[in-house]
Amino acid sequence: LRGSEVTKSSAPATSAGRRFQAASPFTPFQRDLPIPPVLAPVSTRNGVDVYSVDIKDGIAEILPGFETPIYGYEGVYPGPTIRAVKGRPSVVRQTNKLGFDSNVHLHGGYVPAKHDGHPMDVILPGKSFDYTYPNEQDAAMLWYHDHAHGRTAHTLYYGLAGMYLLSDERDVELGLPQDEYDVPLMLADHAFNKDGSFRYAENVDLGFRGDTILVNGAVSPRMTVQRRIYRLRFLNASNARSYNLKLGNGRTMLQVASDGGLLEKPVSRSTVLIHPAERVELLVDFRGFRPGSEIVLQNIDGESPGTKSVMRFDVESGGGAEEFVIPTGRMRTLEKLPAPNASRRWDLGLFTQSGVQWRIAERGFNPDRIDVRPRLGSSELWQWHNPSNRVHPMHLHGMLFRIVERSTGVVHPADRGWKDTIGVLPGETATVQPWFIPHTGRYVFHCHALEHGDKAMMLQLEVEK
Ligand code: C2O
Ligand code: CU
Repeated sequence: LRGSEVTKSSAPATSAGRRFQAASPFTPFQRDLPIPPVLAPVSTRNGVDVYSVDIKDGIAEILPGFETPIYGYEGVYPGPTIRAVKGRPSVVRQTNKLGFDSNVHLHGGYVPAKHDGHPMDVILPGKSFDYTYPNEQDAAMLWYHDHAHGRTAHTLYYGLAGMYLLSDERDVELGLPQDEYDVPLMLADHAFNKDGSFRYAENVDLGFRGDTILVNGAVSPRMTVQRRIYRLRFLNASNARSYNLKLGNGRTMLQVASDGGLLEKPVSRSTVLIHPAERVELLVDFRGFRPGSEIVLQNIDGESPGTKSVMRFDVESGGGAEEFVIPTGRMRTLEKLPAPNASRRWDLGLFTQSGVQWRIAERGFNPDRIDVRPRLGSSELWQWHNPSNRVHPMHLHGMLFRIVERSTGVVHPADRGWKDTIGVLPGETATVQPWFIPHTGRYVFHCHALEHGDKAMMLQLEVEK
């Protein structure tokens, strides 16, 4: 991969796109689920964990026997997982060893504006930046990814994404599964050229769709599980695909957390819709299964075998005797938001006069213009109105919101926790209430269908004192 390929937001391999044939026929459940390495701090001075990451080219073996060129944090895909603890700040020194600008956004984090990875705050090739994360918010599954303006569809697709698991004492008090029973799962759909390289092309203005689901960088893997309860933490790191997850045997799963951490109460679910950039944490109980059972996790919205099979759980004989308490009561109390002092409507739309451009309230991204100036500590009602036939996963940097109302039906109990991304459905009007805490400064909000965000579907807000 050369830097020049991504200096434009057009696809690097347009001609290859149409002639695509799979490098190998789709065969699910061949590989064991890989778990991304956990990054070790280089120092832990004065209660601060310091990490060092190189952003660089790498090679991944995704299809057996093939080399797939990637961009990777530490050269791997997915990037290494960072495990942080509430109350203990971390500093991540990111060194850009790519041939083009890069930067890092901690998605879902309460992060000072300077460290947020604003699309215009980039790390030049050969330079480093120390991202400081206060880790003052409640436990949540966050993630980090590239955010250089106009090329996130490329850089995330080629591998610049990793998970950042912030924990606190509630996880332990509630007895939620820990260690190997607490499994981060990054979903992303891809396509391949015959030589095993990722193919990125075709219809990209509307949002890329691959024909193969990768979980932690492996094609529909299998995971050996004991007869125990697992905490499965899903991140949808796809460019533009949503997944509708369902266990093959129809068993229910217990959702305990969403983007911003724990829900007030666990919610039983038979299907779980997860849009780009969202996180969903599920407890799955394998105690009732006979050893040897194979349970497929499906994407029931998939349109082909490769986009239907997410992964498979193979139950082995271990476990089964441990005492587990499944949380049933209140897990947390969500803070009450201040009364909203403004209300805004954002129409989401496509603009095609000079090539495809996406718009929010008829505006496209302009780094020199601030679109909203809320006061620190205040809140507003934001109405997302989506007349298009695409899902727009709308994301707000640096702060969180709650979903207040949806024109498509009641707000599902699993959507009532803290959120940083909402999949606004075709034809839907969804009202959310952002709370402008805890930092002042300039942030962006945008569509997380990456091709839309890159094509200007992004505005700026500045939180003022
Ligand atoms: Cu994960 Cu601005 O995004
Ligand atoms: Cu969009």
